[in-house]
Amino acid sequence: MSRGFFSFLLFALTFVVATNATSVVQVRDSLVRVPMVKRFNLTGSGTLLARDQARVKNLRARANARLSGTPLSLDAVISVPADNQRIDYAIDVQVGTPPTTYSLLVDTGSSNTWVGAGQSFEQTSTTDETGDDVSVIYGSGCFSGAEYTDTVSLGSGLTIPGQSIGVATSAEGFDDIDGILGIGPVDLTIGTLHPNTNTTIPTVTDNLFAQGTITSDLVAVSFEPTASDPIQNGELTFGGTDSSKFIGDIEYVPITTTFPSSDYFGIDQSIRYGTSTSILSTTTGIVDTGTTLILIADDAFSEYQSATGAVDDDETGLLRLTQAQFAKLQSLFFTIGGVTFELTPNAQIVPRALNSAIGGNADSVYLIVHSLGTPSGQGLDFINGQAFLERFYTVFDTGNNRVGIANTPFTNATTN
Ligand SMILES: *[C@@H]1O[C@H](CO)[C@@H](O)[C@H](O)[C@H]1NC(C)=O
Ligand SMILES: *[C@@H]1O[C@H](CO)[C@@H](O)[C@H](O)[C@H]1NC(C)=O
Repeated sequence: MSRGFFSFLLFALTFVVATNATSVVQVRDSLVRVPMVKRFNLTGSGTLLARDQARVKNLRARANARLSGTPLSLDAVISVPADNQRIDYAIDVQVGTPPTTYSLLVDTGSSNTWVGAGQSFEQTSTTDETGDDVSVIYGSGCFSGAEYTDTVSLGSGLTIPGQSIGVATSAEGFDDIDGILGIGPVDLTIGTLHPNTNTTIPTVTDNLFAQGTITSDLVAVSFEPTASDPIQNGELTFGGTDSSKFIGDIEYVPITTTFPSSDYFGIDQSIRYGTSTSILSTTTGIVDTGTTLILIADDAFSEYQSATGAVDDDETGLLRLTQAQFAKLQSLFFTIGGVTFELTPNAQIVPRALNSAIGGNADSVYLIVHSLGTPSGQGLDFINGQAFLERFYTVFDTGNNRVGIANTPFTNATTN
């Protein structure tokens, strides 16, 4: 292990510990800002893509299971190595009275909130057991346990009495986190409770809205791209959008009716490379906080690879460019609704400070666009993951059945 990577690991460890103690929430006009931490656990083993592609398979499998009414079996877990690379978004959540703080992954692609994978659950005076069991299978892990209701707080000032939460008795694939804050569409919870299989479990956003704490049933996500430091904070706002985090208007588009994207925050978009090379004609996919890269259908990926001249890199699993090729890289243009959003060349690459952490070398440039692992035409032809969310403000507007996208002060940043 190189000395640089070792210092990086130490830094990452220090950071994870330090941020657990700093949860600050401001409440203004029912808009609540919750700090969100970007966490890296990069092992140089080249599994970021494998993890993302396992997630794609799981998103499809969960949608198909709900459609057919057949529970997903554990065989559906697509195993990725336990020491896999991950980049995720986490927030601190308090549960109980007095509260215990848990660090939870923020996931718009699932809707169960649960704790207990790391720090064990503490029952308190506000804890009630519902009598149901609960379980969810994810792309690179699973949990099962008992369903409770309790007081859940996303920081001081944003408290939800009677929030339903899962308490894991077993969890796999969640070594360094306490659980998940699932803020996807509520129907994703169907089939997760037993025996009340057909019951939905309102998400924290749904309950905040139902209880009148926020005036719109939505959550907005702001992320800044990484600079030389590998980790930076983001922000979730519940109930409204934070105008200091985006530029111009938010373009809202309806959630698609095309299955299986319709089960998630699915939208239509087309993608063009440079002035005239079509990469993906208008089709359906999703926006997702739980996916690291920007994934596009295999045929679109081939177009992108030949347009950029990038080669497959065995060490990182990603596409690799020389510096000379990077100098000629064109923007990708995402047309969503009537608006075209520009993903600059700088936004298409892994932050160069992370090259060695992902198993790459300092002289190359690695691309954050890769393939879904399936051809287009299957109702889920792209995922705009974290690499997209770091350049564009995104509103997950459940109440109005739509997704909003806007430019940000970081859309054109050259920090990578
Ligand atoms: C990184 O992941 C490994 C394996 O999942 C885990 O043991 C370790 O605690 C993680 N490190 C951090 C800093 O989260
Ligand atoms: C980004 O740069 C392009 C091209 O220079 C410009 O048209 C666009 O307005 C910029 N976007 C933002 C959000 O600053």
